[in-house]
Amino acid sequence: MDAAQDLDVLARFKDAQKQAWAHYAPLEVATTPTAARLVRHAGVRTGQRVLDVACGTGVVAVTAARLGARVTGLDLTPELLERARENSRIAKTKIDWHEGDVEKLPFEDAAFDAVLSQFGHIFAPRPDVALAEMLRVLKPGGTIAFSTWPPELMTGRTFTLLGRYMPPPPANVSPPHLWGDPNVVRERFGTAVRDIVFDSGRRTIAALSPEHYRHHVEQHAGPVIRLVESLSTTDPDRLEAFRREFEQLVDTYLEENEVHQDFLLTRATKI
Ligand SMILES: C[S@@+](CC[C@H](N)C(=O)[O-])C[C@H]1O[C@@H](n2cnc3c(N)ncnc32)[C@H](O)[C@@H]1O
Repeated sequence: MDAAQDLDVLARFKDAQKQAWAHYAPLEVATTPTAARLVRHAGVRTGQRVLDVACGTGVVAVTAARLGARVTGLDLTPELLERARENSRIAKTKIDWHEGDVEKLPFEDAAFDAVLSQFGHIFAPRPDVALAEMLRVLKPGGTIAFSTWPPELMTGRTFTLLGRYMPPPPANVSPPHLWGDPNVVRERFGTAVRDIVFDSGRRTIAALSPEHYRHHVEQHAGPVIRLVESLSTTDPDRLEAFRREFEQLVDTYLEENEVHQDFLLTRATKI
């Protein structure tokens, strides 16, 4: 495949992502507490210039702005940015919102004191390109921090399961859960940062049963929406098999009507 074809494949991949994430807003109930956890992990302070990458409904951005930071949020999906604008209006915060792609950030070099992403930049197909962009717009001495899903835990295992049922992704698309492996994160940072600090957090989602949880994510979580769309017409039996396997997986993490999803927090300082 030549370079132009490669870019075309990536553009189509991102377009599909954009459509699939359009229904994510109701999940902000679950990502609101974890946003505060990331903002604390990053040590966001009053007056800092902060970028929230793949900001979705703006939960991280608004949390940082309420601490007095000067915040910019960027996301691929216009429907989520609409909700983000509403969130900042309700919270009486002033945030600079941008529709855009983490692989091509529309900001100058060294424009921010902190660059954050909660479960977001991991969906960019090319981790090296996304990370290079996040580091480019960060000042030397600035903080990069993100929350990601470890491959061996609930959400990472869901990505692996989805991968078994989906048609193989284009060759240049990296799976999101690799960002949840501290060794991979260290390797990707290379010599661009110092003082890498890892921690862990937990997202909980209320669910009466594994089936309730499955219904919920089939309506709101981009990667699952894409799978259901693709299999419901081409192979309904395979879709049923996915649903049973997924419910079994969810059952392992369902306790007292809450699905527990543990995640990795990373923080580092740009050299
Ligand atoms: C799981 S949601 C997380 C949203 C938000 N950070 C939160 O914590 O609620 C993933 C987000 O990544 C965004 N996204 C996916 N690929 C992207 C890209 N290449 N550039 C910018 N945003 C992207 C989606 O639009 C979606 O808002």
